[in-house]
Amino acid sequence: MDLHFGDSEPTDEERAAVDSLLGPATSAWEGAADRSDVDLRWARGGREARERRDLLLPGLHAVNDRVGWISEGALAYLCRRLTVPPAEAYGVATFYAMFALKPRPAKVLHVCTDLACAGNGSAKLCADLEERMGAAGSVSDGVTWQSSPCLGLCERAPAALLLQAGTPSGTAAAQRDPRLRNTGAPALPVGPNETDEPVRAAADAEVTPIRADLGTADAPNGAVVTPPRAHTNGSSAEPALRRQAFAVIAPATVDTLVDAATAPEDAPEEPSAAMAVPQAGQDGLLLLQRVGVVDPFSIDDYRSHGGYNALRTAFDIGPAGVIREVTDSGLLGRGGAAFPTGRKWQATASQPDRPHYLVCNADESEPGTFKDRVIMEGDPFALIEAMTIAGYATGAHVGYLYLRGEYPRALHRLENALTQARLRGFLGDDVLGQGYAFDIEIRRGAGAYICGEETALFNSIEGFRGEPRSKPPFPAEKGLFGKPTAANNVETLINVLPILTMGAEAYAAIGTENSTGPKLFCVSGNVERPGIYELPFGATLGELLDLAGTPTDIKAILLGGAAGGFVRPDERDIPLTFEGTRAAGTTLGSGVVLVMDDTVGLPRTLLRIAEFFRDESCGQCVPCRVGTVRQEEALHRIKDRTGAAASDDVALLREVGQTMRDASICGLGQTAWNAVESAIDRLGAFK
Ligand SMILES: Cc1cc2nc3c(=O)[nH]c(=O)nc-3n(C[C@H](O)[C@H](O)[C@H](O)COP(=O)(O)O)c2cc1C
Ligand code: SF4
Ligand code: FES
Repeated sequence: MDLHFGDSEPTDEERAAVDSLLGPATSAWEGAADRSDVDLRWARGGREARERRDLLLPGLHAVNDRVGWISEGALAYLCRRLTVPPAEAYGVATFYAMFALKPRPAKVLHVCTDLACAGNGSAKLCADLEERMGAAGSVSDGVTWQSSPCLGLCERAPAALLLQAGTPSGTAAAQRDPRLRNTGAPALPVGPNETDEPVRAAADAEVTPIRADLGTADAPNGAVVTPPRAHTNGSSAEPALRRQAFAVIAPATVDTLVDAATAPEDAPEEPSAAMAVPQAGQDGLLLLQRVGVVDPFSIDDYRSHGGYNALRTAFDIGPAGVIREVTDSGLLGRGGAAFPTGRKWQATASQPDRPHYLVCNADESEPGTFKDRVIMEGDPFALIEAMTIAGYATGAHVGYLYLRGEYPRALHRLENALTQARLRGFLGDDVLGQGYAFDIEIRRGAGAYICGEETALFNSIEGFRGEPRSKPPFPAEKGLFGKPTAANNVETLINVLPILTMGAEAYAAIGTENSTGPKLFCVSGNVERPGIYELPFGATLGELLDLAGTPTDIKAILLGGAAGGFVRPDERDIPLTFEGTRAAGTTLGSGVVLVMDDTVGLPRTLLRIAEFFRDESCGQCVPCRVGTVRQEEALHRIKDRTGAAASDDVALLREVGQTMRDASICGLGQTAWNAVESAIDRLGAFK
């Protein structure tokens, strides 16, 4: 295996970035500068090094965060450390939009041009920005800007995110606030009137990657084992996962963008997560009850608002009891596929193969979706508790939380929550003294929508390109690292808390027979009060729109995001349930309700959706790789045409769409034509 990119060597900074994750190289085989006597006798590496391939993505992040881009020398050094063939590592690094393999400035401004932002002036914003900072991709005063798919900030459209490489630790906010600097100390207490701005000292404490399958295995009798806390060689003086400085600018104007690009540390505070929840503080909420009420930095505050009661119930009734309650509750997955959670957990728990893994899918990249972000920012301990319960039920001792790379504030809050939970015995070798070992590792995505597909997500964690796998085998049988895995969406997981505290029967009484419980809806676009709404399943679209306040001139509503479908404004009676939307020929998807007036125009909106799928297709299978390109081309041709002038291309779109639906490997290709089809058939586009 050739472990070199020519003669490229890492710079000291790049080497330090990799070493901050892996510890210093201990032999010349790993890239240490000096050869020791031992090096001359045998080659280190082999199986042990190869088993750390899952550190490739964190390693790429480490370099990209520190330097702003990944050079050949840095990649070569990372490859040597992990014994990954350079060609493969290059394939992985180029898969992700957040990584650059060519030099670029430390500051990169990502300006969202996706659906909700397009409806709120992103095109004009980009045109103005071009005048002030030059064309997208050009460099001006040490900053470059680029357009971005949905940043998950749709309630504050138009949105932008500035990421700044090179900061030793913490965020721009951390630099402003001396309390928040990287001390490695536990979190500082925050008074109730203080901002809930992210990054407490504990958020900068070292996060040590863990792998259950390195070291101790599960005892065959199901006895509790300690999740081994792997590597960093125990010698790293720096945080294992480095963070970038960031500034969120939403809603953005050209002036606030230029200011943030010039001095991100002076960007105004981001509003509290509760600002995204118009119902915050209202009685009767189950999933959003603590957002805006609880201090997201304090485990004590979380506990004083009912936190960790569900975990205690779980320990009382045991893993089988938890699965029974979740099954009886009728909980269906909220990540888009609506699969019964109890059945998934039972299938995972019953696998004889060990270890088992739990994966929380927090990749949330469906345009128009931002509910998971709001939960993680506003009530992060709830997710940690819910993951612990899910791990307990399915027999996992390690949980991976795969977090969207563009969610820096959620990252910091979750890291703080993990640190506090460990310190207080809610995670670790012996959770709550119940003899159950469980810990959670956060893995950051790096800008690839397809990594939200669960098997692509497994490949991403394992250090491969985020390409979906063929199913079967299903994750419950062979998932992460080829082991039985339960993968669930953030919203699905937090539903388990009310299920255990109120009981399955009471929970199942909410909603309808086939769609039980509460549901979160992400309302954005041309509404008066955009945000996350919690309603029992069965409320109608009209009721939700009334809550959010819709103007009279709306033209269409996109349900379920880019992978969903359009409905007309007069279809207000559609019940918001899985079965109700299906019967109406549409989908709930991940809960997106994007309201559109005529600001952008339907053909351009469809083009944007088609461009998104073409860009995000992993390219692995022909129907999707070619079909998404053909779809975009046809939409380009007919964007200004109607009637007979468009009919040939409409026919072609149908043929291509059906082929993608029938023959694509995964849900991306299978749904890439949904929105276009619904616009043609339901809204009469191109007639
Ligand atoms: C292209 C694509 C993107 C997806 N993105 C997400 C995502 O961002 N978050 C998520 O929870 N599920 C996503 N899913 C669905 C997951 O594959 C999986 O069904 C889900 O995480 C299972 O969790 P649940 O049963 O709790 O819904 C995506 C699926 C596809 C095909
Ligand atoms: S359908 Fe598209 S995204 Fe899914 S595996 Fe095929 S090429 Fe990749
Ligand atoms: S943040 Fe722009 S569309 Fe979601």
